[in-house]
Formats: sequence, C-alpha cells, structure tokens
Amino acid sequence: MRLLAVRRRDRKWEILLSDFWIKTWVRILAAGPRVEGGMDFVLGRAEEEALQLRLPALIPVLLLGASLQVPAQEAELKFKEVCSACHTIGGGRLVGPDLMGVSERQDRAWLVKFIVDPAGVLASGDPYAQELLAASNKVPMIPTAGMTAEMAGQILDYIEAQSGVTVAAPPEVIAPFTAAEAQQGESYFHGGKGLRNGGPACISCHTLAGLSGWGGGRLGPDLTKVFERYAGARGIKAWLENPVSAVMTPVFAEQSLTKTEIRALSAYLEQAALSEAETAEPMLASFFLSGLLLAAALLGLFGFLWRNRYRATRTPMVMGSKR
Ligand code: HEC
Ligand code: HEC
Repeated sequence: MRLLAVRRRDRKWEILLSDFWIKTWVRILAAGPRVEGGMDFVLGRAEEEALQLRLPALIPVLLLGASLQVPAQEAELKFKEVCSACHTIGGGRLVGPDLMGVSERQDRAWLVKFIVDPAGVLASGDPYAQELLAASNKVPMIPTAGMTAEMAGQILDYIEAQSGVTVAAPPEVIAPFTAAEAQQGESYFHGGKGLRNGGPACISCHTLAGLSGWGGGRLGPDLTKVFERYAGARGIKAWLENPVSAVMTPVFAEQSLTKTEIRALSAYLEQAALSEAETAEPMLASFFLSGLLLAAALLGLFGFLWRNRYRATRTPMVMGSKR
C-alpha cells in the first residue's frame, strides 16, 4: 500500500524495484515455481501493463538487486523450511527451545558448531547440550542435510535480527481435541479415510499401541508416545505442518496435510499417548503364529483335496513294483 502513494512518474520503477518485487524474485529464484506468500497489494491496469512490458528488460537489474539480498533471504527460507518445525523465535518452546535471543545464551562458535553437527556436539558430552536435551524430553535435534558453517552463521544473523524486532508472544493456544476428532484421526492414520492432498497413510510407515490387526509399518518410529515427546499439541502441530525427516519431507512437502487433518491426527496421537503401553506390542510373535496356522491350514486343505493320491498313484505303483 505504501507503494501506491509514491509520485506517479516514479511509480513503475518504484514498484519494480520495491522490496516486494526483489523479495518475490529472490523467492522465485530460490524456490523455483513454488512462490509463497503471493501478492499482497493490488495493481491497477496501467501498472500491470507497464510490468508486462518492462519485465524482460528489467530482469538483469532485478537479478543484481536480488543477488545482494540472497544470503538473508536464503537464511529466512531455510529457517522456515527446516528449523520452524521445531523452533519459534519468540513464540514459545516447541520440540526445541524458543530461539529468541539465543545468541545471548551461548557464544556464536558453539551455536554454529551445534547447528552444523548437533549429534556430534551431543556425543562429545558437552554439558550445555546435555541440559538442552533433558529440557526437550530427550528428543535430540536432528542434523540438517547439507548444513554448512556459513549457512548456520546466516541463520543465526536472521534469528538475531528477528529477536530484535519480535515481541515475545504468548504461546499459541490450541483448543482441546474432541473424541470425534481423535476418531477421524484414527481413520486418517489407518488410511480408511484418504488424506486430501494424496499423502500416504501413516500406518504404511508407523505403528503405535492399540493398532488392530498386524500393526503398522516399521520404517518410521513407533508413535505411541510421540505426543509427549514432542511437547504436546503445539509441538506436534508445528512438526506436522512441516515434517522434517529424510523420508517424510520429500513425501509430504508436495502432499501437505490440511489443518483439519493435522488437528485430527494430533487428537489421535494425544489419545495414543494416554495408553499404558510405551510402544506397540511386538508383532513378530503374531506374525510367526499367523504364518504357522496358515501353513497348517494349507497342508490340511491339500491333504483333503488330494486325499485319493495313495489309491490313485502310489498304491498301484507299489503294487506294480512288487509283481
Ligand atoms: C526435529 C526438530 C528440530 C529441528 C528441525 C531443528 N532443531 Fe534445533 N533443537 C531441537 C532440539 C530438540 C533442541 C534441544 C535439544 C538438543 O540438545 O538437541 C535444539 C536446540 C537448538 C539450539 C540450541 C538452543 C539453545 O537454547 O541454546 C539451536 C541454536 C538450534 N537448535 C538451532 C536450530 C536451527 C538453526 C535449525 C534449522 C537449521 C534447527 N535448530 C532445527 C530440535 C530441532
Ligand atoms: C513413507 C513413510 C512414512 C509415512 C507415510 C509417514 N511417516 Fe512419519 N516418519 C517416517 C520416518 C522414516 C520418520 C523418522 C524421521 C527421521 O528420523 O528422519 C518419521 C517420523 C515421524 C514423526 C516424528 C517421530 C519421532 O519420534 O521423531 C512423527 C510425529 C510422524 N512421523 C508422524 C507421521 C504421521 C502423522 C504420518 C501420516 C500423516 C506419517 N508420519 C507418515 C516415515 C513416514
């Protein structure tokens, strides 16, 4: 809106070189066709025509402007894509701690090292990292693929800048789940009800206590207590909005879960976490038993179907050889 107040003569240039366009170009360049956010101001007809005419000529100029902003933009994108699954800046703890003012808690070299290789720092027995781990229900921070010290530094710059301008907000309040939602969540989990954007049912890779039948897949972790481990409804919600895992990200980035699905699945996971069991019952025994029973049944069936085999084949053969 600020843009529309500039003098008429400068308007097209102002618009084209405005923050908004530079950001949009950076986004397009960084993210390919997946542009987030969209337009938040309305162009008049004259502006639209001017944009269409001038854009090709202006691309080099825009690229130059954009390249100056790339590091900051990239860091912001990375934060939103990866870190925001477990962290807020000023919005309270999720799976991981609120990162507002983190640079005041720890020195930069440590933070860079931790962001690049959290597992390594934890394994080294670093006492501060152990404290963090205990405070987050023993859920360790997962390493981010391809993270470099340079990128970690840029993300820390972004966190610092945000910490300066954000006012810490009270943590988001999520209304209690209903039994109906938990039931709906169960059918999403089982695949009885398909996920709207076509994601695969959770049961193909996950199991949890109380699942009927042969239980779920074993590729992903047991989800019985994940609701507790992931700091409750807010933590689970942020994580499911943006699942960061080598296996789930590629599957669910394009086929994201809807708000309703996330609420229902969270309700179901909350219910599962209330169960006595820590994990799903081991299914190995029942698999083995089912296999044994099935084999016995098949043998019985064959015995019945070919019950005449002695009389028709074996007996004449034995008799013939005796003669
Ligand atoms: C899967 C969840 C998860 C993701 C994704 C994640 N973190 Fe973390 N992070 C944690 C947890 C849990 C802790 C604290 C426990 C520990 O020691 O691992 C933590 C701790 C931290 C700390 C130390 C906090 C403090 O209070 O000193 C920093 C800094 C940090 N993370 C930055 C990042 C950045 C930057 C990213 C994105 C590149 C990121 N994290 C992605 C879960 C996550
Ligand atoms: C294609 C297999 C696959 C599907 C489908 C899948 N997940 Fe996952 N999920 C995984 C794997 C693998 C992990 C382990 C994350 C890692 O370490 O990278 C995981 C991790 C998780 C976690 C974190 C668990 C933990 O203890 O760290 C949650 C929560 C989760 N999945 C929920 C779901 C839900 C809800 C669905 C259904 C909408 C789902 N997943 C569908 C493979 C899958």
